[in-house]
Amino acid sequence: MKILGIETSCDETGVAVYSGTEGLLGHKVYSQIALHRPHGGVVPELASRDHIHRTLPLIDELLNELDIPRHALQGIAYTRGPGLVGALLVGATVARSLAYGLAIPCVGVHHMEGHLLAPMLERHAPAYPFVALLVSGGHTLLVKVTAFDDYQLLGESLDDACGEAFDKTAKLLGLPYPGGAALSALAQQGRPGRYHFTRPMIDRPDLNFSFSGLKTAAMLAIRAQPLDDQARADLAHAFQEAVIETLVVKCQRALRQTGLTTLVVAGGVSANTVLQKRLRDTLSYLSVQVFYPRHEFCGDNGAMIAYLGWLRLSQGHSDSLKIDVKARWPLADSTYRASP
Ligand code: KG4
Ligand code: ZN
Repeated sequence: MKILGIETSCDETGVAVYSGTEGLLGHKVYSQIALHRPHGGVVPELASRDHIHRTLPLIDELLNELDIPRHALQGIAYTRGPGLVGALLVGATVARSLAYGLAIPCVGVHHMEGHLLAPMLERHAPAYPFVALLVSGGHTLLVKVTAFDDYQLLGESLDDACGEAFDKTAKLLGLPYPGGAALSALAQQGRPGRYHFTRPMIDRPDLNFSFSGLKTAAMLAIRAQPLDDQARADLAHAFQEAVIETLVVKCQRALRQTGLTTLVVAGGVSANTVLQKRLRDTLSYLSVQVFYPRHEFCGDNGAMIAYLGWLRLSQGHSDSLKIDVKARWPLADSTYRASP
């Protein structure tokens, strides 16, 4: 079964083909960074319009390279939500129309569930059950994953998402959009000791997060006095340390509470190499195995959508002809487990 996956939830057009027998056959991502950079962040209308231009040509480019004719596809999956509604509608409309034309099934899937399953594309994939930390530009979730389609939300951000806090702080430091990776690069030049930010919510027993206070603390420090290059790097370092320590503490707590010994970390922020190393180092003492997607699948991509689509379609789930996207969509509501 060859499944085409289409991701258009935000500022990346991602397409991929996943085969049930051969695994991932190929993928392509077109990033809109250059388009949005002059505006300092994603402009939703520009994002939708660009997806309209990119999606079909990108699919054709991928299928040509893989030498797979359209009629050899057996199903199509697209990101139904959460995300920017206009951007989602483009992917949904292309997917639904192509599937209708080819008379094959089509399924809309959850973007964060795609992130959650991205490490499954690796040869050394995690085994269920595990705890998943999902850290992206729009979400920060801790999830107990008992099996595919069996998810229990353990904690989430009560305000800004982790990636959002990175992006906003990066902007305050004068770094270009998207700021997360740029802030992390700047933090490498930073020295510890000059700044210290309180680790938010770690003294509370629950597994929720809050990053907006940390971002405000960084903003006050940035505005308190003119910063030279070294001070900016020191501040970036202190900010990143505060975020990472908070994530590490909450992951440890989630693993302890669930009694699980496998952690999956995914979503754009999981590309942060300091976070990756800190989690592996800290949790190795507890005999916890930590899994990440490969770098190119930490952020948004079509491969995770094609894989999730294959799982859904091979279980017999597909959608009606209705095009129905969801800007907001709790992960627990995406399950098919309880449906007849
Ligand atoms: O998953 P993703 O690509 O898109 C969403 O679903 O939101 O995540 C994007 C987020 C952005 O906030 C970006 O700044 C952040 O991931 N990010 C990073 C790094 N690379 C990307 N944050 C911290 N360190 C990084 N190296
Ligand atoms: Zn994402």
